[in-house]
Amino acid sequence: MKVLVVGSGGREHAIAWKVSESYKVSTVYCAPGNGGTHFENKCINIPLSSKEDLKHFALKENIDLTIVGPEEPLTKGIVDEFKAAGLKIFGPSREAAKLEGSKIYAKNFMKKYGVKTAAYEVFYDLKSAEDHLVHCEYPIVIKADGLAAGKGVVICNNKDEAQKVLEDFMLKDIFKGSGKKIIMEKFLEGVEASILCITDGNTIIPFISAKDHKQIYDRNQGPNTGGMGAIAPNPYCSQEVLKAFEEDIMLPTLRGIKREALDYTGIIFFGVMITQSGVYNLEYNVRMGDPETQAVLPLMESDFLDLINSAINKTLSDYKIRWKNQHSCCVVAASPGYPGSYKTDLLISAGEINEGKFFAAGIKEKDGKMYTSGGRVFAVTCTADNLTSAIEKSYKNIQCFSFEGIYYRKDIGTLY
Ligand code: AMP
Ligand code: GLY
Repeated sequence: MKVLVVGSGGREHAIAWKVSESYKVSTVYCAPGNGGTHFENKCINIPLSSKEDLKHFALKENIDLTIVGPEEPLTKGIVDEFKAAGLKIFGPSREAAKLEGSKIYAKNFMKKYGVKTAAYEVFYDLKSAEDHLVHCEYPIVIKADGLAAGKGVVICNNKDEAQKVLEDFMLKDIFKGSGKKIIMEKFLEGVEASILCITDGNTIIPFISAKDHKQIYDRNQGPNTGGMGAIAPNPYCSQEVLKAFEEDIMLPTLRGIKREALDYTGIIFFGVMITQSGVYNLEYNVRMGDPETQAVLPLMESDFLDLINSAINKTLSDYKIRWKNQHSCCVVAASPGYPGSYKTDLLISAGEINEGKFFAAGIKEKDGKMYTSGGRVFAVTCTADNLTSAIEKSYKNIQCFSFEGIYYRKDIGTLY
């Protein structure tokens, strides 16, 4: 089978690598891929990213399956277009991708189908949002409706902070339309978990849970990033928590998908908050997480391609995903300055990794050498029988790679 993987990050490297392990796969085309994907067995980078170019390529090359990594092409309807052209593709339709593309749509969906989530109100104009600031409880969470590159959620401790966020989002329009409509929601205190699930629209199966580390500095300090590391399984996800997640969040969501007749064959990622009063859904993502994918896929024993095909063929109810009885730790190395501005084109010195897996992200290749080209540059994931050993191994092996000013958190996997 010929597989096309859309995207260029560490997540897509992990997807391409895992899919290439299947004996049924002959070639994995990474579009556009990165300076690490094409070193992977069976993988070829192709410099395409627009929907139209990808569709023409898939038709011309007789691609058997396309897997979409990032949310943007999904919210722009790549799945609908591929399907209309008779191509097999793994991901939700444009309508279903609104679960990530519009926070208002997602919260209204959760309310309608009884998915446990924080109380919220929707605001369409600055004046009524400002009025709400007078009597609301602080901290309050303000969320831009649309996609905002991970910067659209702000926790405001007082009225002045909230006022500034409202002006930035609604008046100055810093997200170019995405923040003109907003949600204000109750602040929830607890610990977070990332739970990726696969669905064919009739059945939904959770993957091993994961824990992301969003802030840039150790001890969860500093600004949020795309994710500086992840571990799996998430130590906070006890059987009791997972049961609450399934009953209060996952199954009501599936019920909603069915009732709304959403065309959803893909991954649905729940960002949840585990609190004293139960598990709440903070958000849906309609794709795999980055770096959660780099932590979760190395623990998957099943053939990922078979699993995806089973979802596409709507036979997930017969599928039992097999997992290694192990723990993983993924540490992300970033450019100096990230998530603010950072230098690129730094030469990466790479040794042989002894254990674990190297996933490239913001890396480009020139004359056989690797150079930095993004904020999050690469990740190293190691697995072991316990979390402590997985952490130790990852930190030992990440030292096989270096570039000027390399930065990574030293506390991935530590629970505070
Ligand atoms: P979201 O994109 O909705 O997941 O929000 C991004 C991050 O903001 C989450 O991962 C949480 O850390 C935080 N967050 C979102 N909603 C809430 C909430 N209601 N209470 C506390 N923190 C929240
Ligand atoms: N790591 C969080 C995300 O992928 O959205």
